[in-house]
Amino acid sequence: MDAKAHAFATRAVHAGHDVDPTGAHATPIHATSTFVYGDAARGRRLFAGEEPGYVYGRIGNPTTRAFERRVASLEGGADAVAFASGMGAIAGLLLTVLAPGDEVVVLGPLYGGTGGLLHDLLARYGVRTNEAGGGPDRSTADRLAEAVGPRTKMIYVESPTNPTLNVHDLDAVAAAGRTSGALTVADNTFATPYLTRPLEHGLDVVLHSATKYLGGHGDALGGVLVASEELVAQVRAEGLRHVGAVLGPFEAFLLLRGLATLHLRVAAQCTGARRVAEAVRDHPAVARVHYPGFTDHPGHAVAERQMRDFGGMVALELAGEPALATRRAHAFLDRLELFAQAVSLGDVASLATHPATTTHELWTPEQRSALGVDDALVRLSVGVEDPDDLVADVRRALDAAAAVAA
Ligand SMILES: Cc1ncc(COP(=O)(O)O)c(C=O)c1O
Repeated sequence: MDAKAHAFATRAVHAGHDVDPTGAHATPIHATSTFVYGDAARGRRLFAGEEPGYVYGRIGNPTTRAFERRVASLEGGADAVAFASGMGAIAGLLLTVLAPGDEVVVLGPLYGGTGGLLHDLLARYGVRTNEAGGGPDRSTADRLAEAVGPRTKMIYVESPTNPTLNVHDLDAVAAAGRTSGALTVADNTFATPYLTRPLEHGLDVVLHSATKYLGGHGDALGGVLVASEELVAQVRAEGLRHVGAVLGPFEAFLLLRGLATLHLRVAAQCTGARRVAEAVRDHPAVARVHYPGFTDHPGHAVAERQMRDFGGMVALELAGEPALATRRAHAFLDRLELFAQAVSLGDVASLATHPATTTHELWTPEQRSALGVDDALVRLSVGVEDPDDLVADVRRALDAAAAVAA
């Protein structure tokens, strides 16, 4: 489907879907590990890449291919390759393009799994990671000008970041990539292509934990990356085929169905998140709300430029000295009824997490504090429930938190 001829919502429903030879209107789940090639000459041509087609499930599957083509269309990219999880996609890319001696400059804070892959695993293979210094008050361009050097092979950015929702300037990332020759990569999991399309800002690669907003129903793990045809072919041949984190056809089917409503879900989640952020802002039990839609958020101006809306995530810090604020955070979480306490995000159902004791538990208290992940911080992923109900739930839980004695 032509990305220029059809609007986002149309592509979300139709892109990647070819009418099946059986006439099936929904994309069928091709539950097969291998594909019959008929005669030996065709088998040779398929393996040599001289003829397009499917040969083995670790390299490609028609259901998965429909998902890849839909994501490529929504991100405005040439091609896509899917993986079993977001970490599968990230590892598949990094293992394909990096070599000993290379340096990766990151604009984070990074998702913990990505941080672990870079700092723990790839460090053992001679890949160096350099966190661009300075906080969200410094411009992305200044931070990159300082961090990028002759060995920088990749600039890797997450925006908005987890869990404090910093927004990095994608135009500045693309400019630094052009000047240095480094490959620029955006983890667009939090924004989704409905809100931000990094390739349109000039980045080279965009990737996702499809487990989150792309799937959107909390019932499938998946990952995907979008880039030029050449790079996608290389990642498919090496980072997917040789490593093996393959998306299963059933998960591809679930993710495809999720994508058809991406624009509806994310629009509703943005509305809900704004309502929740506004409702908790002045509550006496709250010290601070992180939400890029507020004009005093350090990333607000950049978010206005590069995001259609401000996303479905809100983080809040409970008030009080550290021990009290932590007890309040726990009381708040335990009193929530509609927000389920669980990691993950982007689900149609609202979720709440205490990052310091879950997703960021492996960091030291000093590292957490440098990232702004204090014990008093709670992260909310706003679902598509009625915003009035969500606001009432959060207010009730904050009243319970306020009642926790000093
Ligand atoms: C921003 C971001 N990137 C990547 C991942 C990893 O994705 P997955 O859990 O699908 O492997 C996550 C998971 O939470 C994430 O939040």
